[in-house]
Amino acid sequence: MCTRNPVIVVHGGCGIYKEDFKEVCLLIVKEAALQAYRRVQQGGSALDMVEEASIILENDPHFNAGCGAVLNECGEVELDAMIMDGKSLDTGAVAAVRNIANPTKLARLILEQTNHVMLSDRGASRFAKSVGLPEIPMEFLITERSRERWRTKLSGASTPVDSQIDHGTIGAVALDTDGNVACATSTGGLNNTLVGRIGDTPCIGSGGYADNLSGAVSTTGKGEAIMKITLARLITFYMEQGMSPAEAADTGLQRLLARLQSRAGVIVVNNAGDWTAKFTTENMPWAAVAGDKLYYGIALGEIRNSAIEDTSFQHGARSDI
Ligand code: GLY
Repeated sequence: MCTRNPVIVVHGGCGIYKEDFKEVCLLIVKEAALQAYRRVQQGGSALDMVEEASIILENDPHFNAGCGAVLNECGEVELDAMIMDGKSLDTGAVAAVRNIANPTKLARLILEQTNHVMLSDRGASRFAKSVGLPEIPMEFLITERSRERWRTKLSGASTPVDSQIDHGTIGAVALDTDGNVACATSTGGLNNTLVGRIGDTPCIGSGGYADNLSGAVSTTGKGEAIMKITLARLITFYMEQGMSPAEAADTGLQRLLARLQSRAGVIVVNNAGDWTAKFTTENMPWAAVAGDKLYYGIALGEIRNSAIEDTSFQHGARSDI
């Protein structure tokens, strides 16, 4: 059996990031990528890697997923997430689920323990209870910052920079040592949407897609646009036609921009271990570990790197923001 060099790529959502958010968001996506890489070093699969990275980002209040998610028009948190196994194409997804800290974990349980792909709202909660996943008070997912933004938008005042919160989503793609790929994507959706609005994130082919025959993709951007061109599946299709991850990502993003005037971001890995992080917004914090090296960036064209043994983190305290 051939052994592949594992790869993990993580993103924290495309948009425009305020200066004081850039460094901390970069730090956390780096931590998520490194922790996920440790999972594969301990024998974990691509699914384990993308789940691990997503949970770290869902638990951090700087990102629009899990704790820190944006609020709907009624000031409530409704979460969407999906996880997909490129070996079997098995997928688990949750839509508009409430009171769950880690929707990616719930999505994986749906993948592994049901014959279904997606559960929503009440049904997702019933299933979570049946498998012992604890419900948490919604207040635990709401930060001062998300409440403030909700109030501002409700009042009709414009929200200046920081439209990251309008676009934020987190995601991960991975290739494991057995050559299997996987993706996970998780979000609170968009600010102040109608109750029950479901975006691209939990929809196969839109928020993510993974197939060992080509590779894995996780997307971030405005769900209503991404769904219309099924961006993640489009990018894997381009890879099936022979494009590299970078070419496929650029072609998909340019098509979204030309057809719907919508900017977005994607991370991609193919089944040979080539990977990319691309976006047409100003910023997208991303990090990747490949070949025992950590790569990361947040601005267009920025790619920094360091050896993974040079990287240590103090982050971990969950401050409210
Ligand atoms: N891409 C996240 C959303 O639109 O819900």
